[in-house]
Amino acid sequence: MTTEQPQPSFRFVENTDPVSDARRREILADPGFGDHATDYVAAIRWSGRSPEEGTWTDPRIEPRAPLPLDPASAVFHYGQEVFEGLKAYRHADGSVWLFRPEANAARLNRSAERLALPALPPELFLASLDELVRRDHRWIPDGEGTSLYLRPFMIATEPFLGVRPSREVLYEVIASPAGNYFGTPEPVDIWLSTTWARTHAGGTGFAKCGGNYAASLLPQLEGEAQGCKQVIFTDRNREDAVEELGGMNVFFVTRDGKLVTPELTGTILPGITRDSVIHLAQDHGIEVEERTVTLGEWREGVASGQIAEIFACGTAAVIAPMGRLLSERGEIPAPAQTNGEITTWLRDQLVGIQHGTVEDPYGWMHRVL
Ligand code: PLP
Ligand code: COI
Repeated sequence: MTTEQPQPSFRFVENTDPVSDARRREILADPGFGDHATDYVAAIRWSGRSPEEGTWTDPRIEPRAPLPLDPASAVFHYGQEVFEGLKAYRHADGSVWLFRPEANAARLNRSAERLALPALPPELFLASLDELVRRDHRWIPDGEGTSLYLRPFMIATEPFLGVRPSREVLYEVIASPAGNYFGTPEPVDIWLSTTWARTHAGGTGFAKCGGNYAASLLPQLEGEAQGCKQVIFTDRNREDAVEELGGMNVFFVTRDGKLVTPELTGTILPGITRDSVIHLAQDHGIEVEERTVTLGEWREGVASGQIAEIFACGTAAVIAPMGRLLSERGEIPAPAQTNGEITTWLRDQLVGIQHGTVEDPYGWMHRVL
């Protein structure tokens, strides 16, 4: 493994009390998802008169620690916040890679614009990830299907109570070792909330902001009470058009081997995994339709066998087969195949590229170490 020096623009503050080697090894043997903190964070501050006019200063890697924030900080009151999620993978030869980080850089800025937060120059975003992963590289697990999950986020830190965009912002990246998000390769049953929406036309659905997730928690609790690990949201104004899950996009595989996924209407997060699945499929002669799928089509498709497989996809979940759909209005049974041929093929391709066992013809992988 090479040990490149961090870029000089990132100041480095050493953690003099890192997690012990023994404890870290114990955590990496069974990482779970998002439960454990690494030794460092990347951080950059911004201040400015408006989201378009300001300066990012003092990029640094420093020990992970609680943030000292005034209780009036805007993020606590008005939820002015956006985040990202991506992973660092250790390949068999010891090298370390990120998957499509430029796509996360672009999405962070689309989210930031919607939340009246400043854009972060993509080169600063990429450098923050590289620098953090270099300092925290001991935290990247090497077990099958494991990785280091990276969570960049931006919060409004100015202390004031008027409602306007904050003139002070903090961008940080934290990291956490990750295994299987659902803890099982079994198909996941899904809850449909007939009461609550996650977002709506003109809202923040396409942005990765905390408020969307806050709105998904109550329906998620409803779902958990019914034994479901995820909630799916539909647009009730469009005949229950399927949108996405609380933290994943959704794909249907038809009996004749076509992929169908809801089109990006502005209420759906444009998943980077979704986009990658579409590319992989199309390049291997699998037809992909991005279009409206209603709950009625789902119900009838499963009943007739026209829908053969259904899967959810996202950075945390990778590609996970979906089982039954439950709601107060009744149940749609699992499709005929729950770890079907196409779901399995797509997962093997995607995971193979990410972990370096399948060639990456797209230049998706970005080497860090
Ligand atoms: N949809 C939502 C609401 C999500 O939170 C995520 C996860 O980030 C996704 C979809 C999938 O996006 P990606 O594949 O970029 O991780
Ligand atoms: C991700 O996949 O990166 C997400 O942010 C989704 C969340 C369920 C962890």
